[in-house]
Amino acid sequence: MKALILTGGQGLRLRPFTCETPKPLLPVANVPFLLYQFQLLRRHGVREVLLATAYRPEAFRRAFGDGRKVGLRIRYAFEPSPLGTGGAVRKTAEGIDRTLLVLNGDVLNDLDVGAFLRSHRRRKAAASIALVRVKDPTLYGLVETSPEGRILRFLEKPTWDEVTCNTINAGAYLFEPSAVARIPPGVPYSLERGLFPSLLEAGAPFYGFVIGGYWMDIGTVEKYLQVHLDILGGAVPLERALRRRGRFLLEPGARLAADAAHDGEGRVLIGRGARVAPCVQFSGSVCVGPRCAIARGASLAGCVVLGGSRIGEGARLKDCVVGHRCVVEAGASIGPGRALGDGTVVKRFSQL
Ligand code: GTP
Repeated sequence: MKALILTGGQGLRLRPFTCETPKPLLPVANVPFLLYQFQLLRRHGVREVLLATAYRPEAFRRAFGDGRKVGLRIRYAFEPSPLGTGGAVRKTAEGIDRTLLVLNGDVLNDLDVGAFLRSHRRRKAAASIALVRVKDPTLYGLVETSPEGRILRFLEKPTWDEVTCNTINAGAYLFEPSAVARIPPGVPYSLERGLFPSLLEAGAPFYGFVIGGYWMDIGTVEKYLQVHLDILGGAVPLERALRRRGRFLLEPGARLAADAAHDGEGRVLIGRGARVAPCVQFSGSVCVGPRCAIARGASLAGCVVLGGSRIGEGARLKDCVVGHRCVVEAGASIGPGRALGDGTVVKRFSQL
């Protein structure tokens, strides 16, 4: 089976980080996010991947080429003007005459692709959506299903008295060619607002498949940070060779002073070639990107620092994300929820 990954969105909610890097290529625990999806696909025997690109397409080719170095065959489709999630599927799936797995390029999950496919086939579905249960259904668009799993309706961010279920779209689909053919060619079209209502209206066999395990999208700065904390907290295995020193995980060439201290839960990932000077205090889960330099006496708590950034002496970072190649000068402090775009310079003793 082939998999198509939707990677063409501009990722506006994840600005400033997506100004330079498309969301699916942003590093998560120091590797491009798509590598987690590639791992999932390989684990389930999928070898051929189509990337539906629109925003900064060249960045994807540069990162993965023909896919050989990530153990896949990757082909690229490009929309000169974005076609939306549905239009992208129609264009990219041209000529495919079998069941197609489609993934959003911004979700991390542990989808059992084989079980999803078996459920789809058993029900002779034209389309299936992977669903995930959430704690607060009022924050999401809900997908209501019958006891047999047939999709009955979609409810956009209901109030508590309208809530009838707690399952939401997990961003993974199986489509038969008959479902793809319903998408009008060459025009912007949405899966969620176009194809799905049209399948319901036509009474097509359209089913949900509830998945368990970890699920999170990286669509906002808050979630981008949370995915890091979850991964470093152990929710998702880090399938890489890393040197371990207590709660520290070191990539090749990372240098950590012997007195580096850590308190609380979680782990600290130090990227390739990064340097951490003496007397640095870490708290909770922290991700330090490749080639970063953390100066003496800095403190980092529950935060992400992307590649090539420099954190000055005594600077304090808490629950924030620092972009690539930033400079946080000595004594500055960056507080919860802050997101510094690539190349930001924060002057000495500034407080953000
Ligand atoms: P926001 O702008 O923050 O909403 O993010 P986004 O542009 O990524 O949109 P959204 O999160 O709704 O997209 C879900 C998935 O579809 C992501 O993986 C996007 O990359 C992808 N996507 C969204 N729009 C398009 C499009 O027009 N073409 C293609 N090829 N992919 C798209």
